[in-house]
Amino acid sequence: MQQTRENWGSKVGFILAAAGSAIGLGNIWRFPYVLGENGGAAFLFIYLICIAVIGLPVLIGEILIGRTGKRNPVGSFKALTKSGFWPYVGGMGIIAGFMILSFYAIVAGWSFGYVVEAIKGSFLDYNSPAQAAEHFNLLISDVTWIIVMFIIFMLLTMLVVYFGVQKGIERGSKIMMPALLILLVIVMIKGISMEGSGAGLEFILKPDWSKISATTVLLALGQAFFTLSLGMGAMLTYGSYMSEKDNIPSSAAQILVLDTLIAVIAGIAIFTAVFSTGLDPAEGPGLIFHTLPAVFTKMIGGHLFSIFFFILLSIAALTSTISLMEVITAYFVDELNWKRHSAVIVFGIVTILFGIPSALSFNVLNDFTIFGLTIFGLMEYLTANVMLPLGGMLIAIFIAYVWGFDKAVIELKKGAERFFERSGWSITFWKIILKYFAPVLIFIVLLQSIGLLDKITNLFQ
Ligand code: TRP
Repeated sequence: MQQTRENWGSKVGFILAAAGSAIGLGNIWRFPYVLGENGGAAFLFIYLICIAVIGLPVLIGEILIGRTGKRNPVGSFKALTKSGFWPYVGGMGIIAGFMILSFYAIVAGWSFGYVVEAIKGSFLDYNSPAQAAEHFNLLISDVTWIIVMFIIFMLLTMLVVYFGVQKGIERGSKIMMPALLILLVIVMIKGISMEGSGAGLEFILKPDWSKISATTVLLALGQAFFTLSLGMGAMLTYGSYMSEKDNIPSSAAQILVLDTLIAVIAGIAIFTAVFSTGLDPAEGPGLIFHTLPAVFTKMIGGHLFSIFFFILLSIAALTSTISLMEVITAYFVDELNWKRHSAVIVFGIVTILFGIPSALSFNVLNDFTIFGLTIFGLMEYLTANVMLPLGGMLIAIFIAYVWGFDKAVIELKKGAERFFERSGWSITFWKIILKYFAPVLIFIVLLQSIGLLDKITNLFQ
């Protein structure tokens, strides 16, 4: 079976596909809205610490488990330990991936729907940003629109995953990433040049430390895991298609830098626009859909630009949804000997059915809440702030205490011999983080999140 497993076509293939998984709505939609709700620059600061100190070591660890185990999350743990517990950790990852896909593809559907709106020229005649917000609210309260766009997006995802790793996933990522980066930079420049943008820059760059609470740390950690596609086996699965000649630490660092760059650029672009148009930074999941069209209205060439922008955003989302779907598919193909094609069709349909209640959270089920969250909100909260950090903590524990650094480091050095000759200290750093820092820190933050849930429950009793 190992001989027949597909591999990435080239070294850059892995980096592009993994960056494609990491870069998506998490950077452009979720990061700004969570940052806007949680105090701006202070959140950014903690987020960057989480990315560098916990994100990078766990990312390296996750890719390494995949490359060594050469399987989906469940199979890779099985390959590396006899203990029956760890495959369940992989299983939790697969369930988390399925849950993420079910709400993520809804927002991806909005982005796709906005391509259509952009083509129709809907963004050209807003007199005020409030009109942009109103238009968005009108669209998401339309049950047919939201569900049709969601289904179209799921079908697109299924189509790519259906054709397999190299032909589908790799080819798509190669052109789109650079194009997205360029467009974002242009939107950022436009944002900065708008009148009153200074307040936005200040919001995202000048920390107000009084805004930091335990919740901020939890949400920043959750966002760090979410944006790096970490903690549920997506990077593990992509790592399983990697060869031993590839350098894991340097690939991981490149993915991390690209991902962070895009998030920060998107943040600046959006908050300069939010403040100069007088919108509320804490508007929640609709934020970019309220803000960006209001910016396009004011731009020369805004019509064409808005079309390109939402096409690229949809593609960035697509490279992320395929990574989520790929994990589920790889599990059924590797472990249960399903045909790739059947796995894609069956789980595509199951995800659509499972996602519908989340889609209805924005209209029919608007008032239906659990712990004060809509079904959509609950899915997002549970996965990003609970399941992913938990998965990341278990991955660190697995490498440090179960698999063991002796074996892990031998594997890690493959393809990175010269890198470690020059910077041997980085291995020590990696070990310390995985052994003590990551498990303890994430554990504390998770306990906090459970306490937080209690508080929310009390509020609604
Ligand atoms: N990281 C992606 C984003 O920021 C979303 C994503 C793709 C993801 N695969 C994942 C998140 C796996 C968590 C786990 O848009």
